[in-house]
Amino acid sequence: MCSTGKVDLVRSLGAADVIDYTREDITGRGRRYDVVLDTGGHRPLTQLRRALAASGTLVIVGSETGGRWLGGIDRQLRALLLTPLVGQRLTTFVNSENEHDLATIAELIESGELAPAVDRTYPLARTPEAIQYMVDGHARGKLVIEIR
Ligand SMILES: NC(=O)c1ccc[n+]([C@@H]2O[C@H](COP(=O)([O-])OP(=O)(O)OC[C@H]3O[C@@H](n4cnc5c(N)ncnc54)[C@H](OP(=O)(O)O)[C@@H]3O)[C@@H](O)[C@H]2O)c1
Repeated sequence: MCSTGKVDLVRSLGAADVIDYTREDITGRGRRYDVVLDTGGHRPLTQLRRALAASGTLVIVGSETGGRWLGGIDRQLRALLLTPLVGQRLTTFVNSENEHDLATIAELIESGELAPAVDRTYPLARTPEAIQYMVDGHARGKLVIEIR
């Protein structure tokens, strides 16, 4: 799922099916998915569950809203409370960045096993510009900051 300008990019990365979220919703095709990985859009839990197979797994990764009391993680909390009561597995994921994982990713990239989609490369001095480009939602893939 992505916005219109990124549909071709996402297809080129190997996605068999791409939903343009500006034109249709995840429940629009009537399909139920085995796994829903939720990183953006802050869709209600009920809507995400409608897109999920009866014994499917939902993993909420992102889309915090910065809400006043819970920082927008109320969906995550509700998912964890609800999961023992329903057939679907509703869970969350919190990444803990560490040197080992980053080194493994670097090895995969160097060996060619992993090919990140790089949009732009910036020299270190232009980092604020890179961050602004990302915050404005223009980045199509990853941005690289060169430190040399
Ligand atoms: N749980 C963790 O450990 C963890 C770790 C890192 C990040 N996060 C969270 O994960 C989220 C994504 O992080 P990121 O670094 O990937 O952010 P990002 O680079 O800004 O990407 C955001 C993505 O969300 C998509 N998006 C925006 N609106 C959407 C909508 N209505 N429906 C579906 N997709 C939509 C964007 O697609 P378009 O550009 O096509 O609109 C873009 O691909 C953030 O909320 C971040 O806080 C969580």
